[in-house]
Amino acid sequence: MILVTGATGNAGGALVRALADAGADVRALVRRDVDLPAELAHGDLNDPGSVAAALGGVRGVFLLAGYDRMADTLAEIRDAGVEHVVLLSAGAAEASELDNPVSRYHVESEALVRESGVPWTILRPRTFMSNTFQWADQLKTGNIVRAAFPDVAVATVDPADIGAVAAQAFLADGHAGQVYRLTGPEALRPADRVAILGRVLGRDLVFDGFTDEEARAEMEAAMPKPYVDAFFGFFAEGHLDEATVYPTVEKVTGRAPGTFAQWAAANAAAF
Ligand SMILES: NC(=O)c1ccc[n+]([C@@H]2O[C@H](COP(=O)([O-])OP(=O)(O)OC[C@H]3O[C@@H](n4cnc5c(N)ncnc54)[C@H](OP(=O)(O)O)[C@@H]3O)[C@@H](O)[C@H]2O)c1
Repeated sequence: MILVTGATGNAGGALVRALADAGADVRALVRRDVDLPAELAHGDLNDPGSVAAALGGVRGVFLLAGYDRMADTLAEIRDAGVEHVVLLSAGAAEASELDNPVSRYHVESEALVRESGVPWTILRPRTFMSNTFQWADQLKTGNIVRAAFPDVAVATVDPADIGAVAAQAFLADGHAGQVYRLTGPEALRPADRVAILGRVLGRDLVFDGFTDEEARAEMEAAMPKPYVDAFFGFFAEGHLDEATVYPTVEKVTGRAPGTFAQWAAANAAAF
């Protein structure tokens, strides 16, 4: 049995489907009733006791980074005899400046997992293709996409590939102790992604990049300022390279990573 946290999310949901498709027993740690191809266990990642209650018969845990009392949660996981933890970390764990809260919670989570005494695999995906859902509201009312950091190319990754890699880590040998940088097949700027999305949707989409001031105002409405500063450090000041393409998805899964066009086609209904 594999326990998947974040199972209603982009990456965890993809893992649940990949494990179910492979015929593996899956339990999803959820905060509400949902329709998933998995047994449900109600729990909260900020409450180690609720995670412990979901560990009966579990040999592997897919864990999100950055929750409260993670050392206690990992102690419960170890004491329950779990054989493998796969941590969903991020490229932010390898930024050049680590004194920001986004890098910090990933770096600290990685350290706790490494020190847990449970065999581990760490996944460091770059920006998810599914972040493109943030454009859906704009595209319901027009053909203009406005977004931050227009000059920054990112090798965005399909969450389905994150799920596929995590599933392999649980189902095949040889993945313990590995740190996997997960990217899609090519680095694209926002304007490139808008052009691809437009072709897929059959619409004449126009990209209009935010100035830094506009981006700040937009982001500060959605997240705390220290997080906004972190993303400016990553992308405006270049503290994080998410443009380099790595061969990891194909090496682990045996198939090429999904392209942004494929992701857009699979999710066209959302736009
Ligand atoms: N998005 C990116 O570009 C990106 C890039 C690199 C790394 N990451 C990492 O990947 C993580 C997940 O990203 P995602 O896009 O899959 O996020 P997401 O779709 O928003 O999913 C988050 C998941 O976490 C669950 N969750 C939130 N708080 C919880 C809690 N207290 N206890 C239990 N479950 C809780 C949510 O469940 P509910 O349905 O109950 O809310 C949901 O299933 C991020 O947090 C980040 O660390 C993301």
